[in-house]
Amino acid sequence: MSAPNVPRQLFVTTALPYANGNFHIGHIMEYIQADIWVRFQRMQGSQVNFVGADDTHGAPIMIAAEKAGKTPQQFVADIAAGRKPYLDGFHIQFDNWHSTDAPENHELARQIYRDLRDISAEKGGSLIEVRAVEQFFDPQKNMFLPDRYIKGECPKCHAKDQYGDNCEVCGSVYAPTDLINPFSTLSGAKPELKSSEHFFFKLSDPRCVEFLQKWTQDGKLQPEVANKVKEWFSVRTNPDGTTSEGLGDWDISRDAPYFGIEIPDAPGKYFYVWLDAPVGYLASLKNLLDQRGEDYNAYMANPQLEQIHFIGKDIVTFHTLFWPAMLHFSGRKTPNQVNVHGFLTVNNGEKMSKSRGTGLDPLKYLSLGMNPEWLRYYLAAKLSARNEDIDFNADDFLARVNSDLIGKFVNIASRTAPFFTKYLNNRMPEIEMTLFQGVAPITANTAGFAVAVQNSVSIRDAFESREYSKALRLVMEVADALNKEFDGFKPWVLAKTADTDPIAKKNLEQICASSMAGFKALALFLKPVLPELISEAEKYLNCEPLKWSDLTLPIDPNRFIPPGHKFGEFKSLMQRVIPEQLDALFAPPAVVEEKLIPGGEPIAETISIDDFTKIDLRIAQIVNCEPVEGSVKLLRLTLDVGEGRMRNVFSGIASMYQPEDLIGKLTVMVANLAPRKMKFGVSEGMVLAASHADDKTDAGIYVLHPWPGAKPGLRIH
Ligand code: MSP
Ligand code: ZN
Repeated sequence: MSAPNVPRQLFVTTALPYANGNFHIGHIMEYIQADIWVRFQRMQGSQVNFVGADDTHGAPIMIAAEKAGKTPQQFVADIAAGRKPYLDGFHIQFDNWHSTDAPENHELARQIYRDLRDISAEKGGSLIEVRAVEQFFDPQKNMFLPDRYIKGECPKCHAKDQYGDNCEVCGSVYAPTDLINPFSTLSGAKPELKSSEHFFFKLSDPRCVEFLQKWTQDGKLQPEVANKVKEWFSVRTNPDGTTSEGLGDWDISRDAPYFGIEIPDAPGKYFYVWLDAPVGYLASLKNLLDQRGEDYNAYMANPQLEQIHFIGKDIVTFHTLFWPAMLHFSGRKTPNQVNVHGFLTVNNGEKMSKSRGTGLDPLKYLSLGMNPEWLRYYLAAKLSARNEDIDFNADDFLARVNSDLIGKFVNIASRTAPFFTKYLNNRMPEIEMTLFQGVAPITANTAGFAVAVQNSVSIRDAFESREYSKALRLVMEVADALNKEFDGFKPWVLAKTADTDPIAKKNLEQICASSMAGFKALALFLKPVLPELISEAEKYLNCEPLKWSDLTLPIDPNRFIPPGHKFGEFKSLMQRVIPEQLDALFAPPAVVEEKLIPGGEPIAETISIDDFTKIDLRIAQIVNCEPVEGSVKLLRLTLDVGEGRMRNVFSGIASMYQPEDLIGKLTVMVANLAPRKMKFGVSEGMVLAASHADDKTDAGIYVLHPWPGAKPGLRIH
């Protein structure tokens, strides 16, 4: 495959996460997979719009918002506000992050629906149909109940408390209407069967079937995905466990109350969340183009435009049947690729669970100071183009990052750079071409840079086809060759005689040059995966942002880094993973049960650093201390916090300390607490002391005392 001359126009998305919780590591994996691909495309000169959004609608979010005492709008806005630290933290560079509740989405979803509804008779007529549907209704909540909110006794094995669609005890599948003694999990009320009109998208229409059969089998999907999809055209499983032939129609409406988009000309009816969710891809794109003053319709009308979705294996039907059919029959462009990935499991496929602490909390990862690009590298090293699950394994992670990424790649720069500063005036020498034809002047080593050149096309193809693990394997082959070459030349030996022996000097120059050219090639290859590390490497290499065309064949290494080129100052590029970081990452969250905390009270709610800095804590010297007449608990303290005046503070520590023992000592006080009028006078602050929450215990109260060297007035940070 040769480099495309015309830059590709790419519109790339990842699945829109439900706005009912923060990102988990599975989401982050999907974004990293897509982000690598997007960065790779940009390095090839392609123009990419990479967008995401929150999937905000549906009954679960509506119910969660109600439980949280918020409007659904407020609820999803709060979730949206928490997205940035994850995306920035893992160097995931969306061009826009939007919401399916945004006006663009309301408008686009309603327009797509109208276009499907109003298909002319010549073209086969409407693809929307209204039908009565009998469904369980919660008379107390006044709403139709999604299956997951109905429980009851299993009709087969009579296990109690089973969900509306399948029994977790005997595994049988049934319809919610088959449950014995059903009840609403929202109110406990006995649900009633009630009929209501639903809107259907006629997927069983021969037009849809014919279109989709072709669309799903012409190379847009991975072979294993296309094969799975093929089965859905012959049989499908009904809610009651029976099977029917062919595609079924799709119920796209829900009755009020529902958090969603109202269906045109149908008051009280809303689009089922999965109808408007993928439209959110277009809405986010439109919002981005509007911000830039570009025309959405013109952009979408460009025949060169490629629309590419990254999704997980659980949402394939929506993206390979419903979504392309919606787009096609409403007269819109359909996706060019739907790239399906498997699930990420953590430490041997255990199901991710927060309470057991086996999951990998992305923010905890970052807060432990773990480098986000370790994770990007590790996931890339595991990801292929196939729809298969991958496992995050702590030992494997440590080995891949420390031995490959750092031990092989970063190492090349760390061992070569010092020779440049010491012996080569930090400048690139001219490279003798013979070295790169595998005929090294002195040793018989293969030239590492030649391997980089050899592998460059396969590495590029591997990134293009999302075979990241293959790409990194080929990259490491290059790194191995470079390290071997370096070891073979023994530059540290050459350096000893370089001053007096011209041949040694020449060879030292050549090995350093070869090594550094190889390092630059590796940096280029790894840039989609490690954007920040490589940006640091570019600073050292003192080069323009690396792009794929820097390595177009035939490669002249003397153009790749011209002779005489000056390098920057070398700084250590990346730290190793410390095993303790992984231990901490997977340590179960601290148990905050009251009885386990010696202080007798659970840890207070998390505060931000801003909250903390509001409290001005100072070192104070106790210049005087005396008993308070009429109080057994209080001592009167005179404190110096370096303000040029004294403060009067009462403290309930009389049971523990003799006044004279405290005089002259240093302690810590809250210096910006509002003065408080007490029976014995005004208290101008508070001295810090530790005690048990329970006043009745004799556990005592202990005044804080700083380590030697602290001075009155110093602030505590
Ligand atoms: N809201 C829908 C998608 C609408 S797209 C128009 C949804 N949301 S989700 O939050 O449940 O999932 C979002 C994406 O994360 C999906 O692609 C899903 O497959 C992916 N993942 C969820 N758990 C995952 C793992 N454990 N591993 C990898 N990806 C995972 O579905
Ligand atoms: Zn059962």
